Amino acid sequence: MTALLEGRAAIVTGAGSGVGRASALRFAQEGARVVCADIDLAGAKETSRLIEAAGGTAFAVACDVSREDDVVAAIAATVERYGQLDIMFNNAGIPTPRLGAKLEDHSVAEFDRLTSVNLRSVFLGSKYAVLQFKKQGGGGVILNTGSVAGLVAWGGAAYSATKGGVHQLTRSVAIEGAPFGIRANAICPAGMPATNFMTTGGLPDDADAREATTREVGASHPLGRPITAEDCAQAAVFLVSDQSANVTGVLVPVDGGYVAR
Ligand SMILES: NC(=O)c1ccc[n+]([C@@H]2O[C@H](COP(=O)([O-])OP(=O)(O)OC[C@H]3O[C@@H](n4cnc5c(N)ncnc54)[C@H](O)[C@@H]3O)[C@@H](O)[C@H]2O)c1
Repeated sequence: MTALLEGRAAIVTGAGSGVGRASALRFAQEGARVVCADIDLAGAKETSRLIEAAGGTAFAVACDVSREDDVVAAIAATVERYGQLDIMFNNAGIPTPRLGAKLEDHSVAEFDRLTSVNLRSVFLGSKYAVLQFKKQGGGGVILNTGSVAGLVAWGGAAYSATKGGVHQLTRSVAIEGAPFGIRANAICPAGMPATNFMTTGGLPDDADAREATTREVGASHPLGRPITAEDCAQAAVFLVSDQSANVTGVLVPVDGGYVAR
């Protein structure tokens, strides 16, 4: 059987951990040549090492996705090394800085940081990917990581607003890109206590806290278990491959039925 992404050149942002690492590994398994982009270069290098150890092709770049120069440089490095860009997975994101913080608990600086890392990043990644795709004569796939928090409201207003923005940007880019054969979709995960996301947001980084959160998060999903980075990676492979050649502008919940209720 042919690999689904044979020969494709793919950038994965946030590839140093969680969904990004799992997706970078799956893309490489399917034959893609992967660029592991992350603000945490050591994490990105480790993902690249894991890909190469499994017989795949990858390299790591340091990239702060909220910085225009870094995003431009990551795409330039991809084109220089692989000759093209076929897949842009804008996945990197951060949680609200304090677990349970309400809208009024956020300073303006904290809100600006959330929007820069979660939304401006997707604007930048999509803008420069579209420019590169058009330079190549059209085609190309954008995938963004949104969230169930951008589909339904449960609180977490500041973070949720950034993901709602990601969703609308995804659909609009799909419409603008369609005449050029450019597709854009998003995955919208529900709770993933096993990635580093929740500890970044202030969940204590110990086994007891993780276990309690895993139980609580799992119970909130109709299928009864937490979402894993690998669940997201499987959906991501479908959405960046030709198996979804006629799918664009969709927001795919990877949520164990959370938003279906
Ligand atoms: N974990 C969850 O419960 C959950 C739920 C819904 C959506 N998401 C979304 O999934 C995506 C991936 O999160 P994860 O759970 O894998 O978290 P994670 O913390 O394990 O991974 C995030 C990665 O992004 C990187 N990153 C952070 N800021 C960056 C920046 N400015 N530039 C480049 N890289 C940066 C981190 O270094 C890290 O490697 C995020 O967009 C997040 O909002 C997560």
